[in-house]
Amino acid sequence: MLQDLADMPSKIAETKALLRRQLPNYREVFAEVSREIEQEAEEIAARFGAGDPIVPSVVYQDIVDGRVSPGIAAAIRRHGCAIVRSVFPREQVTAWDRELLDYVTRNNYVEKAKAKSGLDNYFSKLKSGRPQIYGIYWSQPQIEARQAASIATTRTWLNTLWEWDGADGPYFVPNRDCTYADRIRQREPGDNTLGLSPHVDGGTIERWIDEGYRHVYRHVFSGEWRKHNPWAGEGRTETHEIPSPAVCQMFRTYQGWTALTQQGPGDGTLRLVPMINAMTYMLLRAIQDDTPDDDLCGAEAGRALLASEKWHGPLLKALIPIPVVQPGDTVWWHPDVIHAVENEHRGSGYSSVIYIGSAPDCAKNRKYLPNQREAFLNGRSAPDFAAEDYEVEFEGRAAEADLSPLGRKQMGFESW
Ligand SMILES: [Fe+2]
Repeated sequence: MLQDLADMPSKIAETKALLRRQLPNYREVFAEVSREIEQEAEEIAARFGAGDPIVPSVVYQDIVDGRVSPGIAAAIRRHGCAIVRSVFPREQVTAWDRELLDYVTRNNYVEKAKAKSGLDNYFSKLKSGRPQIYGIYWSQPQIEARQAASIATTRTWLNTLWEWDGADGPYFVPNRDCTYADRIRQREPGDNTLGLSPHVDGGTIERWIDEGYRHVYRHVFSGEWRKHNPWAGEGRTETHEIPSPAVCQMFRTYQGWTALTQQGPGDGTLRLVPMINAMTYMLLRAIQDDTPDDDLCGAEAGRALLASEKWHGPLLKALIPIPVVQPGDTVWWHPDVIHAVENEHRGSGYSSVIYIGSAPDCAKNRKYLPNQREAFLNGRSAPDFAAEDYEVEFEGRAAEADLSPLGRKQMGFESW
């Protein structure tokens, strides 16, 4: 039902009428949300201007030692993002970075990508002719990083910031991961092709038209928006996404990446709107009277959900760059958090990352594993991404024998 894109305008109009019927005072509720959220955005901008990095930072060893202060956990919940530092030793990560460059170079990735450019015209727009995000999933460094005990410990700690246990059993298991194989970024200095406008991943119009999402956001749509807990696991694994290469099929408690090189403001890296309640604003903004009946502030099926100056200007006041991160640091953000990538890399070195988020064990995520396993064994692209399949012929890609006992469970070769 959700797949029939031709019906979307009428489906949207129907949903908006329903939401307005269910919340007749939607104007007053939104006015209240706006006041509070605009104030929060201005506060964040002012604090950032005064030198506060805003994005909470935790040192990995403090997680291991159980020494993270409750104040930090509260800040992560409020801002919806975190940096966990020194998850990997610098030397190990620097060696991975070299190995990845070597892997794509000796396997002629760039030439093969150009030859395939009919498949993806993205490459033809690149001035340098070098891609910045590589459709690489199965290199040795990626496998090693994903199955590392230190990143598992980090994810477990972050996952327990969620309300994960319910009366009828857990919504997901916070200390067990399902691998979600993603790509790598090697962004070169001077690149201006990779900028991403502020957006949210993991569903656009679904957030309004899907009953599962409406349940997740039920307190927002009922007007009791202060009751909405973005960290409640209930219902999060029951949402239905419109299938598309731009939408993740798994439930992620966090999106994230591991830094392979030092990068910070100006280096073509991540920017965030560090406000967990920004989604409350976006949801209610789209049902106000100044929006067309069949439009949700420009949300389009199968794309990222954009936060625009036209509709979401007050939120964008709080769009700030992440602080400088070092090789081995990791960055994490909640799936409702607005993020962007700087238009231009004005720094002097590559800004490189391995994308590693957190997809904890649950029925929804387990369903994804068999296809991903097949892709891994054959070197094909991971199932959620364009079927470029570069690594099928690549020399040196990881094989089943490279998986650790933990990695085998995360990939579903063995059960927990
Ligand atoms: Fe994104």
